[in-house]
Amino acid sequence: MTNINYPRRRFLEYTAFGTLLALLPKALLAENPVPNSKPSSTFNPDVEIDLVAQAAEVGIYRGAKTQVLQYQGKLIKGPQSTLKTLRGYLGPVMNFQQGQKVRINFYNQLAEPCITHWHGMHVPQAMDGHPMYAIARGERYVYEFEVKNPAGTNWYHSHTHELTGSQVYHGLAGLLIISDEAERKLELPSNEYDLPIVIQDRSFDRENQFRFSSNRHNRMRGFLGDTIMINGQSDHIIPVKTRAYRLRILNGSNARVYKLGWDDGTSVTAIGTDGGLLAKPQNMPYVMLAPAERVELWVDFSGRKTGSELVLQSLPYLGSHMAMGRGGMMGGGMGGMMGMMGGFGQDEVIDIVKFQIAEQVSDSPKLPTELIPMRRLTERDISQPDRTVPIAVGMRHMNFQLNGRTFEMQDYIESEKIPLNSIQRIKIFHESHGMGGGGGMMGMMMSMPHPIHLHGQQFQVLSRRQNNSDSSYDSVKKGFIDSGWKDTILLMPGEEIQILKPFNDYTGLFPYHCHILEHEDMSMMRNFYVA
Ligand code: C2O
Ligand code: CU
Ligand code: CU
Repeated sequence: MTNINYPRRRFLEYTAFGTLLALLPKALLAENPVPNSKPSSTFNPDVEIDLVAQAAEVGIYRGAKTQVLQYQGKLIKGPQSTLKTLRGYLGPVMNFQQGQKVRINFYNQLAEPCITHWHGMHVPQAMDGHPMYAIARGERYVYEFEVKNPAGTNWYHSHTHELTGSQVYHGLAGLLIISDEAERKLELPSNEYDLPIVIQDRSFDRENQFRFSSNRHNRMRGFLGDTIMINGQSDHIIPVKTRAYRLRILNGSNARVYKLGWDDGTSVTAIGTDGGLLAKPQNMPYVMLAPAERVELWVDFSGRKTGSELVLQSLPYLGSHMAMGRGGMMGGGMGGMMGMMGGFGQDEVIDIVKFQIAEQVSDSPKLPTELIPMRRLTERDISQPDRTVPIAVGMRHMNFQLNGRTFEMQDYIESEKIPLNSIQRIKIFHESHGMGGGGGMMGMMMSMPHPIHLHGQQFQVLSRRQNNSDSSYDSVKKGFIDSGWKDTILLMPGEEIQILKPFNDYTGLFPYHCHILEHEDMSMMRNFYVA
């Protein structure tokens, strides 16, 4: 096992700080020891934002306001369209252009440590929000990066070790949307026809306050709420016109997996995944969306009658005995009985969003047959053909682990060392499949799916193999999109997935982890060390 030095800057600054502390009077110690606490003089941003994480109150239901943790943003420099504030508890939508240089001054005004991660973005280690950079209340962390990602739907959220689940649950998340030239040429539905849909499940008590518990059971299974929130609001009805729309859907839930489909059986048309637009649209009966995954859908309401509805639902699938309370869409204090057993699957239909046809219009953009050219990586692109980097999902002492280990801030092992500017084959698999049939807690846990997320550049799916022959897989298997760029992939029980991932441009420590936030907080996370 190897360990690298604490990031050098911080190490030096701490050293200097310690020495100074001994030698100098207090008044001279105003300097903050946090790395990146100050903007760099050589970085000239096109866009600058102040982003504050703070406690706030938001009206979600009638009556008492809900106490949340919230990102609040202020545009210091750049196009007016950069920040868009939503009504609910989520942070502002950030809209960036490829090639922009962005500075984000992040201020922690919470009573606990915090750091923010730009999920899906390809940025240097010090700009990635690694949990080792968590800052205390009153401190500032300055992020500076150039937007290298292509057009797509990313997001940002707290990444504070052992607090990610609770901080995201209470509201610390937002969308981060990138656009570029190639996308503009496609003339996809834009502005009011380009809709963000962040899906999160939450539970509320009778006073309209979030219920969140991280008891052992909830940590093992992941926290499941009884109420669906859309864009941080309880309102699920969106009035639309008889034309095409682009839906940017993010599963921002801590643990719940959705099987998204249309209530009238219309097939789902996917145009994008985590990493951006697909090469061409893909029709599917439904889409599986695990925590942190994004899917962009094309939906055309042309020809539908005013007053009619089309409902995006999460459909039943197998995997457990858990049921979502009928009060799902009603919200407010009811649930409670659901999710007491089983870790996966849902046996009831859940309404996610209702689109109400409100207005007839005469024309609509047509779905392009080709979207964004994409080079498929193949085994021939692998830099070290004989090497397969393992991500083994396992469990010891009732704790989930990756590669037989739990997270240590800066720890990595030999197999987690990646040469800079290489393309690696990575195999994500269960350490001991076949044990999934066992009963009780252990059996249930062994048969859990895990959404595995890798920081840094997006990857492509090379292959999937299912070693279990059970019907629960049959109930989800048509919902995976393996043709696009991904940063998170749902590893089903009994499954083995091979991916191809480039590690370009940036050296350092980049986490990979389960995106069931309770699992991540339980240390189901490791680092790759790129050098
Ligand atoms: Cu969205 Cu490391 O996380
Ligand atoms: Cu990430
Ligand atoms: Cu997990």
